Amino acid sequence: METKIIRNPSDADLSIVAEALRNGELVAIPTETVYGLGANGLDVEAMDKIYAAKGRPSDNPLILHVPSIESIWPLVKAVPETAMKLMTVFWPGSLTITLEKSDLVPYRATGGLERVALRCPDHEVGRRLLELAGVPIAAPSANISGRPSPTTAEAVFRDMNGRIPYIVDAGPSNVGVESTVVEVHDDAVIILRPGSITKEMLETVVSTVTYDKALSTDTKPKAPGMKYKHYAPDAPMKTFVGSPKDMALAIMDYVRSGDMDQGGKIGFLLSYEVQEELGQLGYPLDKQSVHIFGHHGDGLSLAHDFYRSLIAFNEDKVHYIIAEGVPLEGIGVAVMNRMEKATNGDIVYL
Ligand code: TXA
Ligand code: MG
Repeated sequence: METKIIRNPSDADLSIVAEALRNGELVAIPTETVYGLGANGLDVEAMDKIYAAKGRPSDNPLILHVPSIESIWPLVKAVPETAMKLMTVFWPGSLTITLEKSDLVPYRATGGLERVALRCPDHEVGRRLLELAGVPIAAPSANISGRPSPTTAEAVFRDMNGRIPYIVDAGPSNVGVESTVVEVHDDAVIILRPGSITKEMLETVVSTVTYDKALSTDTKPKAPGMKYKHYAPDAPMKTFVGSPKDMALAIMDYVRSGDMDQGGKIGFLLSYEVQEELGQLGYPLDKQSVHIFGHHGDGLSLAHDFYRSLIAFNEDKVHYIIAEGVPLEGIGVAVMNRMEKATNGDIVYL
C-alpha cells in the first residue's frame, strides 16, 4: 500500500480523509500531544487494522477522539458531575477521561472493559477532521508498539510507511507526550497515566486527585497499556537527575568507566547548563549525537523534545543514550514516567 502524506491539508483534503476513516481505513492524524493512528471507533474491523499495523497487544484499549463535549453523549451511559467539570475546564486538551460505555461502543475499542476512554484534542486540524468524520475516532499513538511515539509526520512515516493510506501532516505536536488518562469517581479522580494536565491542575477542579498505585509499585495498572514495554529507543539509555554540576560530574565518571564500551557515538539529551558544565570539565561533545532540550529543570521543553530526540538517536545509530531528567513535579511526572520506561528503570537521582 502506498502511504500518502497530506501536508497543510485544505478542508477538501480533510473531507477525503474523513471519508476514508468512515469507510474503515487507517489515517494518521495530528494532535497536540503526539500523532495518532486513527480508525472509525464504531467499526470493529477498522480497529482490528490498528492492532495489526502497530503490532499492539489486543487487550490494550484505545482512546476515542471526539470534536466536542456534546459528541460523547451517545458513547457513555452517564456523565458524572465531576467529569462534566473536567471536560468544561480542560477540553479541548490533553485530558483523557474514562467513563462507563454505552452499547454503541464496541468492546474492541475498550479491550473488553466497561469503561471507554474519551478525549477532545486541542488541535484545530485534528478537531476539524473529527468533525468531518462524524464518528468517534479511535487513535493510539501512531508508532509501532514499544517504540517512541511520533510527534511529527516524518516520524509516523518511518513506522507506518506501507501500512496505512494517509498521514495528515500539520507540523510538529506542541506538547510532545501523551495525554493524562484519568478515571473519574464521585468527587475524586485517579490518574492512570500522567501527562501535561498535571495533578496540580486537576486539583483546581476536583478535591481528591491521586495516582494509580501501579504507577509507583508492581501492582496491576488500571490502564492496561501501562504494563507494556514502551517508548524504547534502540540503544540502552541511562538518566541522571540533579544539579548541573553534579550531573556533569556523574556523566564524566560514567562515560569513562568500564561499564560502557568506548566505540561508536553516544546520544546526549541535555540542558544548556549541563552541556556548559561538561565543556568546563573538558569533556568533548562534538563527536557525539547531542540534543539540547532547553534550560535545566524545564519539564515542558523536555516533554516537547523527548520522543523526537530518541528517534533522532535511533537514526544516528548511537550505541548508548545519556539523558538529563527533571524533578517529579508538574509535567515532570509525565516526562519521568516515560523516562522510566525508555531507560528500563535506569534513573539515577544524585
Ligand atoms: O495523547 C494521547 O492520548 C494520544 C493521542 C493520539 O491522542 N493517544 C495515546 O493512545 O496515547 P495510546 O493508545 O497510545 O494510549 C492509551 C492509554 C493506554 O495506556 C491505555 O491502556 C489507556 O490509555 N486506556 C484506554 N482506555 C482505557 C480504559 N477504558 N481504562 C483504562 N485505561 C485505558
Ligand atoms: Mg502509545
